[in-house]
Amino acid sequence: MIKTVSTTPYLDQKPGTSGLRKKVPVFQQQNYAENFIQSIFDSLDGFEGKTLVIGGDGRYYNREVIQVALKMAAAAGFGKVMVGKGGILSTPAASHVIRKYGAFGGIILSASHNPGGPTEDFGIKYNIGNGGPAPEKITDAIYARSKAIESYKIIDAADVDLDSTGTVKLGAMAVEIIDPVKDYADLMENLFDFGAIRDLIGSGFRVAIDSMSAVTGPYAVEIIEKRLGAPAGSVRNAEPLPDFGHHHPDPNLVHAKELYDDVMSPDGPDFGAASDGDGDRNMVVGKGMFVTPSDSLAVIAANATCAPGYKAGIAGIARSMPTSAAADRVAEKLGIGMYETPTGWKFFGNLLDAGKATVCGEESFGTGSNHVREKDGLWAVLFWLNIVAARKQSVKEIVEAHWAEYGRNYYSRHDYEEVDTDAANGLVANLRDKLATLPGQSFGALTVESADDFAYNDPVDGSVSKNQGIRVLFKGGSRVVFRLSGTGTSGATLRVYVERYEPDASRHGIETQEALADLIAAADAIAEIKARTGRNAPTVIT
Ligand code: G1P
Ligand code: ZN
Repeated sequence: MIKTVSTTPYLDQKPGTSGLRKKVPVFQQQNYAENFIQSIFDSLDGFEGKTLVIGGDGRYYNREVIQVALKMAAAAGFGKVMVGKGGILSTPAASHVIRKYGAFGGIILSASHNPGGPTEDFGIKYNIGNGGPAPEKITDAIYARSKAIESYKIIDAADVDLDSTGTVKLGAMAVEIIDPVKDYADLMENLFDFGAIRDLIGSGFRVAIDSMSAVTGPYAVEIIEKRLGAPAGSVRNAEPLPDFGHHHPDPNLVHAKELYDDVMSPDGPDFGAASDGDGDRNMVVGKGMFVTPSDSLAVIAANATCAPGYKAGIAGIARSMPTSAAADRVAEKLGIGMYETPTGWKFFGNLLDAGKATVCGEESFGTGSNHVREKDGLWAVLFWLNIVAARKQSVKEIVEAHWAEYGRNYYSRHDYEEVDTDAANGLVANLRDKLATLPGQSFGALTVESADDFAYNDPVDGSVSKNQGIRVLFKGGSRVVFRLSGTGTSGATLRVYVERYEPDASRHGIETQEALADLIAAADAIAEIKARTGRNAPTVIT
């Protein structure tokens, strides 16, 4: 039986960089999730009788919202919903399932790399039929609808058992509980040379994967241990926990430090990798070498033909604007297209669909390709293993050879988290006001060549996205970029991205923060970071 429940709007349901993210108690307010899910359905056309995919990263509140979403999808008229067993689907796996089964779209329940638990973060994101995050015109429509919503529809039915695979009925709608891992693992096996990677691991190459008690555990165990033969235990923190074991499931040098230290120790593993809460991010470390995500994109692009799925070569590369220009040099050498987009994976979808870009990446530990329409953590890890196996070189040798050939882009991001919102907005407003006067000004030995607020003209659909980050470019190719995070749930996060290009191989061994020191000082002088935020140092440096 379909019930219509009256409701009043919440005015804060504006999707950010990647869906709606709030603290769990916010989502637990009466009708909060229902309002947002109905706003999604009300913003879509033509899904009657079609299939919806639902899955999440297993965090706290995942199961409750899945039950609500299922009953609302049945009331809305979907013909079928496919759900991962246990409510689990990593973000890239959800993207793949949407594409493979020709679903109308999908709802992904995740707050990605943000912590989980009763007082931590939760999120809801809608993905369209290409498997990728909904573009801005849809997220804007969802937000508009959420401010005017008066009722939602839900069927009156018992909860669905999410823990056994198979198909059940929910009202007139079918619910198919699927194995969350198999389709994805099969896709990886098609893209990469599993035989060569298996031989590499068989020869004693030691791999350590940290799934950070988040969604990739079951995927990594199936792929790395079962299909590629790594010894049991090679995947650590493999069981997805609702609170991620109280960890912050963000794979970077701060939150995956234990793995990093382990790989760097003389008798530790040869290769380490970690993924985030929902499995779309990755960190790759080889012995003696942390690979920056920007370099990872460039190295993957330069070596793409090592992997069977990319044997024919790549059509183009896309990167978010704050990501370093390392990949641009690869694109130039290969004579292929290079696209610079705003932050957020949703901007890559059109380029991938149009065949303009094959691989994409973001400095925020995100790398992926046209195999799905999300960034994909395990995909990046397997690509690296495939390259190591094919080139018969260590990660360190591969990266150093890359720098020697293309030059090195020293790169770091400084985050100032939970800054007062007014102070952060004031800092950005002040920067915008200064843009016109910056060119020609000097900061130490650095002279500003140009400064702007990045705007993107989508070459596929002609849409324009403005105010996507302040860029200050210096003579010689160095730059600093400032933007406010669109994924945080408390206060504001200021991100400062710092980059220097160094063509001279004799200067490739400098410690990163040291190599960037004059740019870091210039960033503070230009944006008055210390004065305006009251902070003496960033919260997180990656
Ligand atoms: C952050 C990253 C961005 C990424 C997004 C979702 O967004 O910076 O690259 O696409 O998370 O994982 P931000 O908080 O900067 O808006
Ligand atoms: Zn994520």
